[in-house]
Amino acid sequence: MENREQWSSQIGFLLAAVGSAIGLGNIWRFSYMAYSYGGGAFLVPYLTALATAGIPLLILEFAIGHERIGSAPLACRKIRPGWEWLGWWAVIFVMFGIVLYYMVVVAWCLDFMIYSFSLAWGGNPDTFFFKEFLQVSSSPAAVGGVRLPILTALAVVWFINWAIVFRGISGGIELANKIFMPSLFILTCGLVIWAMNLEGASTGLSAYIKPDFSKILSPRVWIDAYSQIFFTLSLGFGIMIAYASYLPGKTDITRNAILTAAINSSYSLLAGLGVFSVLGFMSVSQGEELSKVVSQSIGLAFVAYPKAISLMPGGRFFGAIFFFCLLVAGISSSISIIEAFISAMIDKFGFRRRPLVTMLSLCGFAGSLIFSTRAGLLWLDIVDHMLTHYGLVVVGIGECILTAWFFNCSLFREHLNSISSIKLGKWWDAMIRWFIPGALGIILLTDIATEIRKPYGGYSWQAVFFIGWMWLLATLAAAVAIARKKWRSKPY
Ligand code: ALA
Repeated sequence: MENREQWSSQIGFLLAAVGSAIGLGNIWRFSYMAYSYGGGAFLVPYLTALATAGIPLLILEFAIGHERIGSAPLACRKIRPGWEWLGWWAVIFVMFGIVLYYMVVVAWCLDFMIYSFSLAWGGNPDTFFFKEFLQVSSSPAAVGGVRLPILTALAVVWFINWAIVFRGISGGIELANKIFMPSLFILTCGLVIWAMNLEGASTGLSAYIKPDFSKILSPRVWIDAYSQIFFTLSLGFGIMIAYASYLPGKTDITRNAILTAAINSSYSLLAGLGVFSVLGFMSVSQGEELSKVVSQSIGLAFVAYPKAISLMPGGRFFGAIFFFCLLVAGISSSISIIEAFISAMIDKFGFRRRPLVTMLSLCGFAGSLIFSTRAGLLWLDIVDHMLTHYGLVVVGIGECILTAWFFNCSLFREHLNSISSIKLGKWWDAMIRWFIPGALGIILLTDIATEIRKPYGGYSWQAVFFIGWMWLLATLAAAVAIARKKWRSKPY
């Protein structure tokens, strides 16, 4: 297509793909999982999931976008017209689901960056976070009012996202990532070196690195490792398909996919070194066992870290940089989610980018409001669980079935091999056809079976059904409806 926007350089594309992958998930989610699932031993399921699903699927998503030249719905339609809904479903539940609460967590980071300067959480970060900052209500039904500090930061975060995506691919997203990614790496390295030199860091590091193989025998660990890989590599979001569609014809796709995955995972491992050094410092300076200072995933960033920031020398500065890193990592991912949807709407309806981005940002801001209320954390927890555990994984399985069973996926392999320096063998087709849908299918069924017996997170059946399942089903219905609409542009 002649008018399709393009990246101005391959390195610009790589930085944007890495920017999408590296996000909130790498810093606190990965570290917490590594700790609770056996330290160094967690690397076994994590790296297995990366090698057996993450990298082959990332290559597939890049191949789909590049070879079919289209956003997720257009590319799915070009593979097989009846499957356009799959692409729409991915970009709709991601845009009207994941990004709505993701922005709220990014807004918390902005608030906490500012709070770091005055150590606003005082002597009790736990009470501060849950009772004063979020003022968490008793149940998802008790929505309560919108929290003003969150609302203000949310407006700023949506504005930044709008300003970047508004400027398009090379002048907006690529430029932003060319600034964000090097800055993020330099700041993270600085933080990690600082943290590793704190007194007690070695206590935390040994808990992080020392393998406890007994923990990885549980199926839960493997399920979480696969869903972490999906989330962290932005798979099933429709992002990587859209991003690859903006590449010129001759691009080393396979190498870029492997590099994206390698940089993303190295970043997680690096961030883990910093996080655990700080926890070790806390455990030694408070004379408590490490297991006592490690809290739940969200608590790790917004409770345990603030506690450490108050204790350490130069903590205010360290804290501000830590939350700034989370902010940058979060924004480089959220812009990619918005772009996946924008790209789809432009492809199908021929809308102009600027008014579309403006409208969408306003709608997105309005949609985020529910997550900035007093029940916001509870809604976030349920929606996040449903969309990442079921939505992303089902899209991943759908992509494999579509390309391997309803199409000939070796055509994608031949396309990749004709332009890439690393050549894929027939094993890749077999993984897309058999292994990945099979493994993900087992994970999905195990997850569903567990949650039929006991609703997720101790919530009521009603809450899980009306918030979680309805969210998935409503976005699926919207996807089917929009897929049936007539194409107003002629993108192919
Ligand atoms: N890949 C992004 C993250 O890890 C969404 O946060």
